Amino acid sequence: MLQRVLNQYNEAIMDTDRDRALLVVRDALGMGISPEEVVFEIVVPAIELMMKSISENQGEVPFKVQEMVEKTVSLIDESFRQLQIVITVTAADEPVITGHPNEFSQVILNILFNARDAFLARKDDKPRVIAIEIFGQGGRGVITIADNAGGIPEEILEKIFDPYFTTRGPDQGIGIGLYMSKIIIEKNMPGRLSARNTAEGAEFRIEV
Ligand SMILES: Nc1ncnc2c1ncn2[C@@H]1O[C@H](COP(=O)(O)OP(=O)(O)OP(=O)(O)O)[C@@H](O)[C@H]1O
Ligand SMILES: [Mg+2]
Repeated sequence: MLQRVLNQYNEAIMDTDRDRALLVVRDALGMGISPEEVVFEIVVPAIELMMKSISENQGEVPFKVQEMVEKTVSLIDESFRQLQIVITVTAADEPVITGHPNEFSQVILNILFNARDAFLARKDDKPRVIAIEIFGQGGRGVITIADNAGGIPEEILEKIFDPYFTTRGPDQGIGIGLYMSKIIIEKNMPGRLSARNTAEGAEFRIEV
C-alpha cells in the first residue's frame, strides 16, 4: 500500500501538481498511514528521488556534434601536426545531441590520444591520418574516428573497453581511457561506442 501511495505522490510531484500531492497525502492519512510514515516513507524518498534526477541531468544540454568535435580537435591539432599527424573532419549532416558536452569532448580526446599512441608505437614514415566523419543515421548522430596506424590486434579487440586493460608500459597508460569513454557514451548519454579494424587501422564509432 505504501509503495502505491509513494508512486502516486512521486507522479504528482513530478508533474508539479501540488493539489494532487496533497490529495494523495490526505488519502494516505485517511487509510491509516501515520504522519511519520507519510513524512519518512513518502515525502523524504520523493525528495531524494527528485534530487537524484536533478543531479543526473545537471549540465545536460543539446549541442551540435560538429561544433564540439571541431572545438576538441582545435585543442590538440597543433601538437599532433608536430608529430606529422593530420586530422580531418568531414560532416555530412548536422546532428544535435543532448548530454554533457565536456564529457563528450573527453571521449573524442581519449580516442585521438590512443590513435597518436598507436602512430608513435609504429615508428614508420607513412603519412599519418586520423579521419573523423560525422553524419546522421536512423535518427541518431554518428561519429567515426579512423586512423591508419595499423589497427588493434584481433585477439585484444574484445578487451580494449575493459577497466585497466592496456598494452602500454606501466608508466605510459593505465588502461582506463576507453573504459571511461564507454561509460560516458553508453551509460550517461546513452548511446553506443564500438571499435573495429579497417584495412589500414582502427575505427571507433560513436552513436548517440
Ligand atoms: N587507435 C588504436 N590503435 C591501436 N590500438 C589501440 C587504439 N586505441 C586503443 N588501442 C588499444 O586499446 C588499449 C586500451 O586503450 P585505453 O585508452 O583504454 O588505455 P591506454 O591508452 O592503454 O591507457 P590510458 O588511456 O589509461 O592512458 C590500448 O592499450 C591499445 O592497446
Ligand atoms: Mg588511452
